[in-house]
Amino acid sequence: MSEKFMEVSPADFFYRNRDLAGFNNPTRAMYSAVRELVENSLDACELYQIPPNVFLRVSQDKNDSTTEEATATYTIRIMDNGSGIPPEFVPSAFGQILYGSKYTLRQVRGTFGLGGKMAILYGQITTHGSATIMTSTGTVSLKDLSLGADIDQARKMLVVRLNSDAMERRGVDRAILQRDVKIKGCRVQVNEKTLYVKPEDEGDLKEIREGLTEIPVTVGINEFEISIDIQQNKPRVRRDVVKPNPNGWRGTIVEFTLEGDYLRAMPKILEYLQQTAMLNPYAEITFIDPKGRLYKFERVTDEMPPPPKETLPHPYGCDVETLQRMINVTNSTSLVTFLTTHFHRVGEKTAKAFLAEAGLIKVGSTGDHEGKPGDLIGVSGDKSPKRLTSEEIVRMVQMMKSFKGFLPPDSSCLSPLGEELLGAGIRKELNPEFLAAEQRGASAYSGYPFIVEVAIAYGGGVPSTPGISLYRFANRIPLLYDEASDISRIVLNEQVNWRHYKVTSDMPVAVIVHICSTKIPYKTVGKEFIADRPEVAREIKNGVSSIARKLAIFLTKKISVEHEKRRADVFSRYLPKIAQFSGDLAGEPKKPDSEYVEMVKPLLRSLMRYGSEA
Ligand SMILES: Nc1ncnc2c1ncn2[C@@H]1O[C@H](COP(=O)(O)OP(=O)(O)O)[C@@H](O)[C@H]1O
Ligand SMILES: [Mg+2]
Repeated sequence: MSEKFMEVSPADFFYRNRDLAGFNNPTRAMYSAVRELVENSLDACELYQIPPNVFLRVSQDKNDSTTEEATATYTIRIMDNGSGIPPEFVPSAFGQILYGSKYTLRQVRGTFGLGGKMAILYGQITTHGSATIMTSTGTVSLKDLSLGADIDQARKMLVVRLNSDAMERRGVDRAILQRDVKIKGCRVQVNEKTLYVKPEDEGDLKEIREGLTEIPVTVGINEFEISIDIQQNKPRVRRDVVKPNPNGWRGTIVEFTLEGDYLRAMPKILEYLQQTAMLNPYAEITFIDPKGRLYKFERVTDEMPPPPKETLPHPYGCDVETLQRMINVTNSTSLVTFLTTHFHRVGEKTAKAFLAEAGLIKVGSTGDHEGKPGDLIGVSGDKSPKRLTSEEIVRMVQMMKSFKGFLPPDSSCLSPLGEELLGAGIRKELNPEFLAAEQRGASAYSGYPFIVEVAIAYGGGVPSTPGISLYRFANRIPLLYDEASDISRIVLNEQVNWRHYKVTSDMPVAVIVHICSTKIPYKTVGKEFIADRPEVAREIKNGVSSIARKLAIFLTKKISVEHEKRRADVFSRYLPKIAQFSGDLAGEPKKPDSEYVEMVKPLLRSLMRYGSEA
């Protein structure tokens, strides 16, 4: 008997293991599809500092004979005003699993080049349909449409050779160029394959040429119909056309059908959108559900957190494969420069100290040559990283994990919301009576930087569920499943003594925890809950304790004001009676003066007011 061996493509793998990516049943698939698309749209806006406008519509197929109760065929359409995608990348971005633009070290929502395509793949295997993508980058610079610009000295003008293939691909014609390319003091003339720029007086041609290539030119809208060849993991392009875009629209529209259970998924979808709106207060999200109901989450601010920078890997997070890949591509011929150019926050001094400790170079005594005292100089034995033996590579990686001299990763690759924006988002969605937010400093786990932001809200629209409501976010994505296993829930339940902060389980208290990192320590591929990392747990605990103290102060004041109010109430009720009684006792025939009661009223009122303001 012989075993049958076969190979499956990544698309085939995820087709067989859809549950790994959160597509295990019609309800979950519906939710995950919406979530992945919204996340792609928000990513496409934020990386370019565009305040997002996301328009989402889920409609039920008219021809669908199934009843409302069961699974039905739905069309999902999402439109954003994000970056748009250049046409050459569209087929793979939507038709090839594990293809994406986010395999870099910076904070984004997408990670695997998987989510949006999983939704499309699920749609394809349940409805046999394909996805329609409409996208435009709005403009490109003239440089992308030309083959170069030459100076024609004799005729005193610039001659731009046009790339007709690129122009056709992007839907740009002569009329558009003639309209868009405007240069002050110059006449522009577009011919079949050339664009001429002639200064009206003595303009400096070189200078004009410098600025020329950056001029934005409006491009068309590329429309694709794509399905996925699952066995080959390749996009199948069924239609590819470019349409005019006179107003220079920029963004992306994705539309496809899938079989799902909207009714069951509805509560989670709405919760997801509301929480997304909370952590993205600069986004406007509009949703039309299959019944035609409109949900609108308005933006409350145009301010956006600064976009994250891309970063180099930190030595603590490096493994043998990563190191080997860097060695393969590096141009460095010395170990010292190799470390300083390819790793995050490794300077020359640190590199030398590290290499010396790893036994890969020898250094002379410190401070006895030229150079600052404390510098490690007189290096010998430094060699090209390409000459490292495999045993040395392994040793180097081991040393990277244990060497104490590396600086911790910095957080410029992260984009936390900040206390103000976080507060604005929470106020908008929960409108609490009390709110405190705190952004913790940057920390790191295994070489990956992370920042924890926490907030605590009391009263107002905070739901009065027994215990503390927890809102969890990772890189601004709400996490709605598996709360019990999540690190934040564990910290809140096991490590914070709520009684100490005067919080009882019947109070309307919500805790918001936002973790941002270049690599969120998710426990599973489904990206639903965060693993129990001690470094992360510590930050959450310290953050929550610090804002819980503020809540405790508020609650103490509130409790004492309520107590006073109650006393004042009693006082005002019995005061006339006491007065009368005392009058009677003293044999005073006169009734107590009602003026007197009127006199204490303002006092009581101000006490009430104080209570509600506290
Ligand atoms: N709405 C969009 N706007 C711009 N680019 C997008 C959009 N949706 C998807 N993309 C591009 O397609 C790629 C693949 O998306 P996806 O399959 O969801 O994987 P991931 O988001 O994990 O990279 C993204 O990396 C991005 O470059
Ligand atoms: Mg994605």
